Amino acid sequence: PWRPRHILVTGGAGFIGANFVHWVAQHHPETHMTVLDLLTYAGKRESLEGVPNNQLTFVRGDICDAALVESLASPTGGMVGRGVPPVDAIVHFAAESHNDNAIADATPFLRTNVLGTHVLLEAARRHDLRFHHISTDEVYGDLPLPGESPDPDTDPSRATRFTEESPYRPSSPYAASKAAADHLVRAWHRTYGLRTTISNCSNNYGPYQHVEKYIPRQITNILCGRRPRLYGDGRAIRDWIHVADHCSAVWAILTRGAIGETYIVGADGERSNLEVLGGILQVMGRPADDFEHVTDRPGADRRYALAATKLKRDLQWHPEHTDFARGLEETIRWYADHESWWRGDKEGTERRYLRQGH
Ligand code: NAD
Ligand code: DAU
Repeated sequence: PWRPRHILVTGGAGFIGANFVHWVAQHHPETHMTVLDLLTYAGKRESLEGVPNNQLTFVRGDICDAALVESLASPTGGMVGRGVPPVDAIVHFAAESHNDNAIADATPFLRTNVLGTHVLLEAARRHDLRFHHISTDEVYGDLPLPGESPDPDTDPSRATRFTEESPYRPSSPYAASKAAADHLVRAWHRTYGLRTTISNCSNNYGPYQHVEKYIPRQITNILCGRRPRLYGDGRAIRDWIHVADHCSAVWAILTRGAIGETYIVGADGERSNLEVLGGILQVMGRPADDFEHVTDRPGADRRYALAATKLKRDLQWHPEHTDFARGLEETIRWYADHESWWRGDKEGTERRYLRQGH
């Protein structure tokens, strides 16, 4: 089977990108990686500590910088020629990723998620690079909660879980920017024959996730002596997957996926926010009602649920980290043991939330 020899990993200093770089380093030591990351508030160079130096080139820069992207993607660019083969694939994680930030100001989301994706697609086209685009289940909008009636605008025959055939109906500014990027990738395949694949994954959890996100926010609140903050009634459902399983899925799609195809990535991990919080409070030895209710997001999505049937059937991918209680405990331990990694982000993040009423 085809194996990439040198991947340009965008957003490799963010949560999932860093986990992917560690995963590849561990499982495929023969593959070189160039990480291109702007190190926004969401990226940290430290998240890549431990990746062997000879397997990694780190470049701080913007995916919207066409000249920089060209210099890294071209067969004579970057580190090429110093024992490093030319880039043969782009795996594109870089994005503005947080819904609350997009609701406050969508400008950087349009720039990075849409225009940045365009810059990368054009470089891939010039140099005929394999292109894998990391996307989200949020492009499909949401599903009603069990017992709630479906949205009247929605096709009533629609499946109870998202599939690759679900219609695009993003509800939030972030989701709309990701949907736009997906459409660009599909168009570049159809129009220019670019060798693309897309994965639409559910909510990830695990190490190196920014403290603005749901699970790390609650864990670090408790570690700081603050009460967790639950949006709305807490009945909203997310379909949780351990980040390591997302990484193995990306590798499977990159190396064995059918060109031009989209794959849903999920691990049958549906849980309400309240249930997840209950688990965190229990493991951390806090009473079950020791949290605050705060205002929900405007237009908040209720339920995500994914059927990863195609990925399992066609590429024989299977998630391995399906014991959620165990994954949550390990994640709690990781944050307790890595306070220096997150401490510097905590105050600013909570100040931002306070201004937004969350
Ligand atoms: P993150 O916010 O933790 O990391 C994003 C990274 O991209 C950061 O390192 C940041 O510095 C970098 N970046 C941002 N703008 C950039 C730019 N203009 N140029 C170069 N680098 C830039 O995000 P994440 O949670 O790791 O998400 C990674 C990808 O996975 C995103 O595309 C996101 O849409 C997608 N996704 C995330 C989830 C999830 O649960 N977190 C689920 C499905 C899909
Ligand atoms: O579904 C995939 C998506 O998952 C990714 O595309 C996004 O990049 C990623 O951020 C995530 O989006 P969500 O909006 O689902 O994740 P978030 O962690 O922000 O919130 C999860 C749920 O928890 C959501 O229903 C809102 C709620 N929440 C969130 C925070 C931060 C709370 O109840 N309290 C909180 O403090």
